[in-house]
Amino acid sequence: SGVERLGDMIAEARAIVPFTGAGISTECGIPDFRSPGGIWTRNRPIPFDEFVASPEARDEAWRRRFAMEEVFAAAKPGRGHRALASLYRAGKVPAVITQNIDNLHQASGFASEHVVELHGNTTYARCIGCGQAYPLDWVRRRFDDDGAAPNCTACDEPVKTATISFGQMMPDDEMQRATALSQSCDLFIAIGSSLVVWPAAGFPLMAKRAGARLVIINREPTEQDDVADLVIHHDIGETLGPFVGN
Ligand code: OAD
Ligand code: ZN
Repeated sequence: SGVERLGDMIAEARAIVPFTGAGISTECGIPDFRSPGGIWTRNRPIPFDEFVASPEARDEAWRRRFAMEEVFAAAKPGRGHRALASLYRAGKVPAVITQNIDNLHQASGFASEHVVELHGNTTYARCIGCGQAYPLDWVRRRFDDDGAAPNCTACDEPVKTATISFGQMMPDDEMQRATALSQSCDLFIAIGSSLVVWPAAGFPLMAKRAGARLVIINREPTEQDDVADLVIHHDIGETLGPFVGN
């Protein structure tokens, strides 16, 4: 079966790089983007240019974020996260590349320097001008007091969740680390991603081209199924549950 083959490939691998998308966190209560009921089926994305240009867009972005706070605050790592953390502790996984912003790989036991966050992190905020970090409750307090999204106390530029929006520059350091990981692993496992958002979706292909085996675990077909060595169209928690160890 697919899970047995996955087990063999994991046992044979020297360096496994997991690449995760929103599908790994749905069992933790966080909706994905493109499934029925997903974030982009309910709200249109707010592009970075619009966030910068429009105070109304900033207020709307923060209202959406605050509306999700209970979901993010309550979320705990799922079976997929825990399986990857077990392989990490066993020395099989040097680091995880993620498109997720929910901090759940860190919560499952990955050191933060071993989580490459291509699209940032929504559990804190940053000034888009000088990069100063802010806790979300500071933003919340200011928003409630002033009735509007706050600007940086140092440089007066807008404060935004520390995530990457459409039209925003990809983080240089993360892109370089993801490139190095993709080119040096011998097994690359794409988990819970529709693989439609670039440049993130380029990493599975980059790994395959550099000689790694490619596994895709996703409920639905993806655009890269035909280049993968193994495709498992099944629930992530059920597929990776057997790999949760100590
Ligand atoms: P998507 O919502 O595009 O894809 C998630 C995939 O996970 C879907 O194909 C689902 O079928 C699958 N899935 C969900 N739950 C699953 C489960 N329990 N078991 C198996 N499969 C499951 O999310 P991403 O690919 O992560 O970026 O989206 C990529 C980027 O698009 C995000 O990082 C975000 C978004 O716009 C930005 O906002 C910049
Ligand atoms: Zn600033």
